[in-house]
Amino acid sequence: MRNVSFGTHDAKASAVVLGLWRTKTLDADAVGTLLDAAEAAEINMLDTADIYGDGRCEEILGEALAARPGMRDRMLIQTKVGIRRHPRAATSYYDFSYEHIVGGVEASLARLRTDHIDSLLLHRPDVLMEPEEVARAFETLRLTGKVLDFGVSNLTAAATARIQSCLGFPLVATQMQLSCAYSPAIDSILNVNTKGERGAMRDDGIFAHATEHDMAIQAWSVMQAGDGRGSFMGNPDFADLNAVLERIGGERGVSASAVAVAWVLRYPAKMQAIIGTTRPERVTESARAADVRLSREEWYEIYAAAGNKIP
Ligand SMILES: NC(=O)c1ccc[n+]([C@@H]2O[C@H](COP(=O)([O-])OP(=O)(O)OC[C@H]3O[C@@H](n4cnc5c(N)ncnc54)[C@H](OP(=O)(O)O)[C@@H]3O)[C@@H](O)[C@H]2O)c1
Repeated sequence: MRNVSFGTHDAKASAVVLGLWRTKTLDADAVGTLLDAAEAAEINMLDTADIYGDGRCEEILGEALAARPGMRDRMLIQTKVGIRRHPRAATSYYDFSYEHIVGGVEASLARLRTDHIDSLLLHRPDVLMEPEEVARAFETLRLTGKVLDFGVSNLTAAATARIQSCLGFPLVATQMQLSCAYSPAIDSILNVNTKGERGAMRDDGIFAHATEHDMAIQAWSVMQAGDGRGSFMGNPDFADLNAVLERIGGERGVSASAVAVAWVLRYPAKMQAIIGTTRPERVTESARAADVRLSREEWYEIYAAAGNKIP
């Protein structure tokens, strides 16, 4: 498994990360089996969030880890804070206040049955955030040893830079949705200075910002077509893409899904791909993506087969 140097303690984090968003209906045994498959495939980083299953996903992860002596110390645990359920309106909202960040982490630690979180991300932008207040919360969590490293998720480059300007230590990671069939961050680079939709920059250049500041870029939903269209894997709406992924997989001796993950990892930065399957055998096969470095010919062919026009 390829690693990236992660965070301020130079941890070696696997390029493929196991995401636990879809585990809320599983029990601790089933999550444990996923963890075993991940570990056997040399995945050593787990991604969850306090909001996944309203805490349930952290809870079952904590239970599964507790049943596996020593595994917690072999894994880097990343969780997220900042999304809340509204007490009255049928909506979520965002809260980067000191109280919510610090209190949220305390609750996550209890559910995860651990004394520290390796990486904490702010989940989605809180338009009302005060960067100095976020920094104060991060400082408290860092000084008490409850969180080792910090990052952001779905934040613009400008918002990331505002938080960073108040911090005495670096933000180490950012998360953004990216797959070969859902790639606004790539589309805007390729269609630079064009007037059409695909030239629109929707993330304020977070990939360039992250690369310049040595932050890990963690792609989420690497198998999804985005916009509620489900997975592109085996999806007849993406027949050309599947044919190319299958062919390259055959040539490389890996599965089509490993090739799809390898496409994300090929971006020249400190890339990580978070896989979200709930099936152990798919963890095993997707993890092999880290052994594949796609050629430029392969990478652009996959992008085009996903229906993207190359200008
Ligand atoms: N920061 C954020 O805002 C954010 C948002 C979303 C997700 N995330 C993180 O990213 C992780 C991954 O997201 P995701 O679950 O959308 O990832 P994903 O790997 O793109 O999607 C997994 C889903 O695709 C299905 N799938 C269908 N065919 C597949 C195949 N051949 N190989 C693998 N999966 C296939 C899986 O079904 P099976 O389970 O049956 O395999 C599962 O339902 C989450 O767990 C979470 O940690 C972060």
